[in-house]
Amino acid sequence: MLSREDNELVTRVGAGTPMGNLMRQYWVPAMLSSELPTPDSDPVRVMLLGEQLIAFRDTNGNVGLLQNNCPHRGASLFFGRNEEAGLRCVYHGWKFSTDGTCVDMPNEPAESDFKQKVKATAYPCTERGGVVWTYMGPRQQPPPLPDLEPNMASDSDVQLVAVQRECNWLQGLEGDIDTSHLGFLHLGAVQPEDTRPGTFAYYTVNDRAPHYNVVDTEYGAMYGAYRPGPEEQLYWRFAQFLFPFYAMIPTGVMGLQKLVRAWVPMDDTHMMFYSMGSQASAIQSQNVNANRRMPSGGGAVPRVLMTPNTSDWYGRFRMAASASNDYMIDRDKQRRREDYTGIPGIHTQDQAVTESMGTIYDREKERLGTSDVMVIRVRRRLMDAARALAERGVTPPGVDNPEVYRVRSGGAFLPKGADWIEGTAELRKAFVEHPELDPALAG
Ligand code: FES
Ligand SMILES: [Fe+2]
Repeated sequence: MLSREDNELVTRVGAGTPMGNLMRQYWVPAMLSSELPTPDSDPVRVMLLGEQLIAFRDTNGNVGLLQNNCPHRGASLFFGRNEEAGLRCVYHGWKFSTDGTCVDMPNEPAESDFKQKVKATAYPCTERGGVVWTYMGPRQQPPPLPDLEPNMASDSDVQLVAVQRECNWLQGLEGDIDTSHLGFLHLGAVQPEDTRPGTFAYYTVNDRAPHYNVVDTEYGAMYGAYRPGPEEQLYWRFAQFLFPFYAMIPTGVMGLQKLVRAWVPMDDTHMMFYSMGSQASAIQSQNVNANRRMPSGGGAVPRVLMTPNTSDWYGRFRMAASASNDYMIDRDKQRRREDYTGIPGIHTQDQAVTESMGTIYDREKERLGTSDVMVIRVRRRLMDAARALAERGVTPPGVDNPEVYRVRSGGAFLPKGADWIEGTAELRKAFVEHPELDPALAG
């Protein structure tokens, strides 16, 4: 449960809010590189941290992210002409380069120096791993990008998925660190005999009430949840929260899985989810579909049915299943227990429950149990960091330490009584290959 004041603090991300200021300390994923396919391609409306921005790729291939309203008299730069290394407002012809410099003001006398006095708000952009990153913060010299392993893989090895969700960003993030829902929302209809004995899936559906341990880390927080495993071992699931809005979920085999999920606020009531995973992680997640009763169309890298993107502020990466069609729920399937929810696909199931809480859930009403310890910890970390920044100017975790992001998540068997942190230290290191591990272990 959160007081109304704390709920406001942790959910609101507009300019000038404590959480909005915290997020502006970091580079944030703004869009996919593929949304701006070629030099001088069509500008795109991007809603990010409550700001309306226009993205474009200039003649030289560089990406710009400018304020929507032209600095002259406010016409939208979305309608601009993307030409000769700049975006030209169609109202009176003012032209801006990717850094916001006004490079042409053709409706003013040639001798006027007014153009030198005008600058559009422009956020620096850089591209890596198929993602356009932007820095919306106060520093002249932005900090380094975080060392997120799947975002640093070669382009051919990275699997990118973007899906918009129509609720506050924190509801998305909290779904990723709430491990006990797996045995219900996603696997509630799966019985042990539907799984391959000895796999993670088998032990997951044998015991749906795991025990949790949670620790703070230099990048955020980590949990290890355990339940009985083979013989004298326990099956542990490890997941990470990384500032300010990333999760690494515990599906897959730790040591093999390279996967990060970003829950990026568009504004207070919409977010863009980005999944960045290596091909190997994607293949691993597809193995989840081997059995008839095991859920399909989801997994670590979601494959969901999308509607075509539109140019609307909220027109990018929308799912065909939505609140307006009850997420295509099939009550017969639900009744027959062919599927616990009757809602097709893991990602859609997550989307349905988190959007169904309302656009910004009032956490004064919730009743948290022992299985919610990670959710509680992550909120605490976020609120403490936002307050420390607002009150004392403390730089939040990870901003200047890109190397702390070099971690992984996943599942592992550990002997009973083994130290869960020490026992997995090697497996949690990113950029280390483990040919000795078998991806089929996930089940
Ligand atoms: S409003 Fe853009 S040039 Fe006048
Ligand atoms: Fe889920």
